[in-house]
Order: sequence, then C-alpha cells, then structure tokens
Amino acid sequence: MTSQEIRQKYLDFFAARGHAIIPSASLLPENDPTTLFTGSGMQPLVPCLLGEAHPLGRRLVNSQKSFRAEDMDEVGDNRHTTFFEMLGNWSLGDYFKKEQLAWFFEFLTDGVGLDPQRLYISVFAGDEKNSVPRDTESVEIWKKAFAAKGIEARDAELLTEARGGELGMQDGRIFYYDAKKNWWSRSGTPDQMPAGEPGGPDSEVFFDFQTPHDPKFGKECHPNCDCGRFMEIGNSVFMEYRRVIANNANSGGNNANKNRGEWFEKLPQRNVDFGGGLERIAAASINCPDIFKIDTLGAILEEMKRRFSWDYDLASDGERKIMRIVADHLRAAVFMAGDGVFPSNKHRGYMLRKILRRAIFKAHKLASGFSNLYPLANTVISSYKSAYPELAERSKDIHSVLEEEEMKFMKTIVGGTREFEHLVKNGKITGVDAFNLYQSHGFPWELTEELSLQRGLDVNPAEFQAEFEKHQELSRTASAGTFRGGLADQSEPVVRLHTTTHLLNAALRKVLGDHVWQKGSNITPERTRFDFTHAAKLTEEQKQEVEKIVNEAIARDYEVKKEVLPLEEARKLGAIGVFGEKYSDTVSAYTVWDPETGEVFSREFCGGPHVAHTGEIKGKFHVVKEEAVAAGVRRIKGVVE
Ligand code: SER
Repeated sequence: MTSQEIRQKYLDFFAARGHAIIPSASLLPENDPTTLFTGSGMQPLVPCLLGEAHPLGRRLVNSQKSFRAEDMDEVGDNRHTTFFEMLGNWSLGDYFKKEQLAWFFEFLTDGVGLDPQRLYISVFAGDEKNSVPRDTESVEIWKKAFAAKGIEARDAELLTEARGGELGMQDGRIFYYDAKKNWWSRSGTPDQMPAGEPGGPDSEVFFDFQTPHDPKFGKECHPNCDCGRFMEIGNSVFMEYRRVIANNANSGGNNANKNRGEWFEKLPQRNVDFGGGLERIAAASINCPDIFKIDTLGAILEEMKRRFSWDYDLASDGERKIMRIVADHLRAAVFMAGDGVFPSNKHRGYMLRKILRRAIFKAHKLASGFSNLYPLANTVISSYKSAYPELAERSKDIHSVLEEEEMKFMKTIVGGTREFEHLVKNGKITGVDAFNLYQSHGFPWELTEELSLQRGLDVNPAEFQAEFEKHQELSRTASAGTFRGGLADQSEPVVRLHTTTHLLNAALRKVLGDHVWQKGSNITPERTRFDFTHAAKLTEEQKQEVEKIVNEAIARDYEVKKEVLPLEEARKLGAIGVFGEKYSDTVSAYTVWDPETGEVFSREFCGGPHVAHTGEIKGKFHVVKEEAVAAGVRRIKGVVE
C-alpha cells in the first residue's frame, strides 16, 4: 500500500470505531515555548491528556505533521527523517489497553495486510523504584491477539538493550524492556520527568524485515537491536501517570525537610496515546527496509533523477546518503514554509535556513547535474496537498521562500568561498576567521568546518562559539535600553526583580498548572511586569499562595546557577521559558535550586543576569496588580518591598 492509502485507511478505521478525525496541528506549537516544532501528535493534546475536555470528544484520530531536529544527524540511513507523519489515536479517559492493542493489531494485519508472523512486541518491564508494575496485562492481550491468528506468542526474558544483544530472540514474540525503551513521556524516562509531566508505560510493535543480523550491533539480534532487521512501527502509550515532586504548593509549600521524596501519581483519567510513523508502516507494507522507497519520498528521488540524472538505485552508499538528506530536508522545508516559517537567523527561521542550506550544500557536493533545489518543492506539494491542503493554498509562498533563500545562499557560497580561499593562504583557519566569515558573508559554520576538513585543517568550534557569544554581548550592550528579556537595565534592583520574576513564573505554574507560559516580561528598577497564559482571573487565595511560594523561595536562599547546555538536554531537564537568540543548538538556562538536596525550584531558558542566591533579593514580594491583557493572557505587576 502507498502511504496515502495507509493514512486514509487508518483514519477510516478509527473513525469507524467512534473516533473524531482532527486535523493535523501546525508544525509551530502554540503556547509551548519549550519546543520549537511539533514533534509528535500528542503535544498539542497535552491539556486534554491531563483532563481538559476536548470539544470533539474522548476518541480522537489524526495524522500529524512532525519535525524532530534532534534526529538531523541520523538522516542519511534508510529509516531516519527529520520530518515525518505520525499517525495518532487517543483515548482521553475512555478505552484502554484491551481495545487499543487489539485494534492496532487488526489495523496492521487485516487493514494494511502485514503478515502477523513478521510482528514482534515490546512491553514495559516495570519500575520498582517508582512503583510502576510490570505490564503483564498487555502481554495477555497480545497473546490472545496472536492466538486468534494461529500464532503462539511467547514472552521472553526481561531485557535491557545491552542484555538483548546477549540473550537474543529466545524464541519469543513479546519482550519486556526497561524504562529506557518502554516508557514514554516528552522528557524521557520516569527519572528524567519534571514535576507535572504526564507519561506512562508503552508497548511497541516491530516489523521484521528478516534481513541477516549484523553482529556489529551485538552478538544476538532482538527487536530493539539497531542492525536494521527490526523497525519500530507503532507505539501505544498508556498515559496514566504524572510525576509529582513532594516539595510543591500542593504538599505544604516549602516544608522541604518533611518530605523531599519524588513519586508518581495517577492522572485523573487513563489515556491512550498512540503514535505510529506513517512512512515506516508504508515501508513495512512494501516489505522494504528503506523508507525512501515509499511513494511520497520516492517521488522526490524520481524527480531528482529526472532533473539531475541522479540514479538512487545505482548510487554508491555515500551518494545515496546525500540524496536521502536532500530529499528529507527539502520535504521538511516545504512543510515549514507551508506553516509560515521564514528563513532567518533566529529560532524556527534559523532551523529552516539550516536545513535548506544544508540540503543545497550537500546537493552541490554531489555536484554532477545539480541545478536548483527549489523547483522540487512542487513534487512535495503534489504528493501531500490532498492530506494537507495548506500546502496547495500556500504553494506560491512556499516556492518564493525556497527560491529566495537558495539565491541568497548561492551568493553566500560564492563570496564566502572566495574569502575562505584567501584566508587559508595563512595555512590555518581560526575560530575568529570562521566567525568573521559568518558575520560578514553569512557563511555558515558548517561550511567552514566542512571546507577546512577537506583541506585537513583544524578549526575549533568552541573558539567560534566564544566569538559568537562575545559578539552577542557586545551588540546587546551597544543597543542601550534594549536589553534582552525585557530588562530596562542591568542595575542591581533590576537584576533582583529579574530573579524574582523567575520565582514568580515557577510559583504560578505550581499554583495554576502547567498551562502557564510566559508571554512577555518587562522589568524596571521599581517593578516587574509579567504576562502569562491563563484564562481566568486569579482568586485572592491563588494570589496569596503565589506570593507565599515566592517569598518562601527567597527565604530558602536557593542557589541560582547558570548552565549552557544542548537544547534537547535543557528541555529534558524541564527548562521552561522563551529561547534567547542563538546560533548553535546550545542554550543557556538558569536553575534555582538547593545544591544539598538537589531540589530544583525553577529552571528557565534565560540569558541572565541574575543574583547568585535568592536571599540577595532582600525583601518581600507582593502582587500589586493582576489583570487581563488579551484573551487567555493575564498580567501581573509585582514589587519587592
Ligand atoms: N507520544 C508517543 C510517541 O511520540 C506516541 O504517540 O511515540
């Protein structure tokens, strides 16, 4: 089956079982500044998984446009892409394991026509520390489903990824794995989840391509082995838990000495969050481990053949890798532009610029026959326009965005390469040189690195980054009055109120919930003004509770620590807030914490500056005004007296 057919069949299958078909959300998440792009179908539904009612009911299904920048370096093999379509169905406190697993199995076997003999299953082995039991219930359901197809599905010994490589298949069909593999939350394993985050055990289905095991990946093969024999094609998450940290507003304010334990509580409802990679299911349906051979991605490769005479089937491994990167990045760029992203040096615009330029650069490297990338946008749009009509509607804009950026980049390459040649006459390229190339020619760091490598020259990324940050600092100081983060200046009273604002943000989330996101802030020596997402007026009690939590945090004299770390890691650690301008994928975050107990009061993306200890705020925080500024956005003005 083609991916188009599978998408439709999936939507029809679940619609016939009482699900409302919801449109794909935009790639640009709303009110969720912790992530630049929507990376899974559940992301826009988090409030509903936490108990908010969905207007279309408790059974939902869709195919969601998703983009995961963190997978960029893996693109080039036969299964990874940055953009993908995630088939998703959800039960918001309605059906649970029995229906979900049986339906997905029925869809794969009777709907898509996959041979049940080729399907293997993983389930959650349990987590004693966090008191989450082993998922024997799912095992029983799976056994019945396979038995109905005449297959005896045996469960194998407990596995971790490493043990799997030793123990292998053990004649099993159902495999228990630990939380690294069979627990899903936006932030990873139970121990990585921040307070309030929902998650749960999951059960994955793998398709067996029956290719020979490659011992490079371990002595024996098992479903989670990376040798390429198995491919994960769907994940049913049983989202019924939420991480709780004892030391929060609900459990007695800051009485941290009483109980600092961390644990899980059951959500008010048991949810199913299913996500399956459409491209992967399509690859399984044609029994081809290379997802680039499916209809939609294959069409891009066909067009490359027609225009540039690149023959994917005859290409060397290296060439094929480049073709996959170009096809993937082009498709992602079309969808981003379709959702209104413009290339720029910041945030999402930067990501679009990066993938487009990377694709064009790689295509030029492959050289022979390549002319321009942007005309291929048409191929992507025609494959997807029936499922995602916004692509057809914005087709003209998409074309001009891609064309303009390509033209700009060509100029950059020509000018920058000339300058690079000039610089290498000295026999080396310093980080400062690389920065100057970027600064005056827009020549990306990746290209300097690549050209240097080709010549056997070393160029230091840390030196480049340092230069980049130095420059940012300078331009900040130069533009007097326009400090980042809404600070009027960097005087002591402003810095104290800045840290207080972080405390306020954390306190609001503790009192009102995780839907609270900063919408803006403005801090003068006299007061802080903080805008955030929340629908209703705060009650007197809520205001007092917020003040109390902030004042307790001041009294606790928490340490305020700056960290510069990869974006993904910061996100996993639960950092919230708005990203600062950045060139690389690293971000700076400020953590307000107790280094003795490890208790984290707040962690936010922020460029600073802050006090070193909350005690330095010296005074009592007080909310002087609370009002609405727009639909769903409230504003607090607060002072420290
Ligand atoms: N949220 C899960 C995933 O992304 C299932 O939808 O895999």
